[in-house]
Amino acid sequence: MGLSKKSAAFTPVQKALHWAVVVLLGFQFFVFDGMGRPFHQLMDGVATYTTTVIAHIAIGLAVLVFALWRLVLRARHGAPAAPEAEPEALRKVSKLAHAAIYLLMLVLPVTGLIAWFGKVGNVAEVHEVLTNALLALVILHVAAVAVHQFWWKTNLLARMR
Ligand code: HEM
Ligand code: HEM
Repeated sequence: MGLSKKSAAFTPVQKALHWAVVVLLGFQFFVFDGMGRPFHQLMDGVATYTTTVIAHIAIGLAVLVFALWRLVLRARHGAPAAPEAEPEALRKVSKLAHAAIYLLMLVLPVTGLIAWFGKVGNVAEVHEVLTNALLALVILHVAAVAVHQFWWKTNLLARMR
């Protein structure tokens, strides 16, 4: 099982999972991100399960399951090779960025669960810092897709549609 296996195209399930995670992370970052107050209450001994807390945990678990599922599919089925127009050096950067995104989709829920259920403040801080790392990588990712689309004109977006 190697993660560098090449395929002709992403499968419909791989595409569906990619976009499902985009939607889930959008909710996690912009709708159900108010975990600071409930977490401090928890640390003070009062566990509050508001809609935000339940949604944040449920979405985080879904992202964890979907990320694992995507990795299994990638190992079994593979992913298409980088378009010809992409410079060699940037292929390495892209591979690293994708690997880091996959890693964060696993580490974020795990650190979140440890912080909340283990009541570990330090791990919550790590969780917070890593959310910003994922945000930065996703901005880079979308910028890279735009460069492909409009500069190199590789029509990369069509591979994920
Ligand atoms: C993909 C999964 C996850 C993402 C992207 C994510 C994202 C976030 C974001 C954006 C924040 C707000 C950080 C801030 O205030 O600047 C946060 C806080 C927090 N999250 Fe998550 N989260 C995920 C999974 C989880 C899970 C499964 C739990 C388990 C309960 C969890 C527990 C927490 C806690 C306790 C905080 C508050 C940390 C603090 O204020 O010190 N997260 N998360
Ligand atoms: C939360 C936001 C996002 C995350 C976490 C994410 C994550 C990923 C990951 C990990 C891959 C690599 C798939 C693989 O090779 O196994 C990928 C590929 C891709 N993503 Fe995203 N993505 C996000 C948002 C977007 C958005 C908004 C777009 C469109 C502008 C986009 C377009 C693409 C495309 C076109 C590919 C295929 C690249 C290729 O064929 O090599 N992604 N994404």
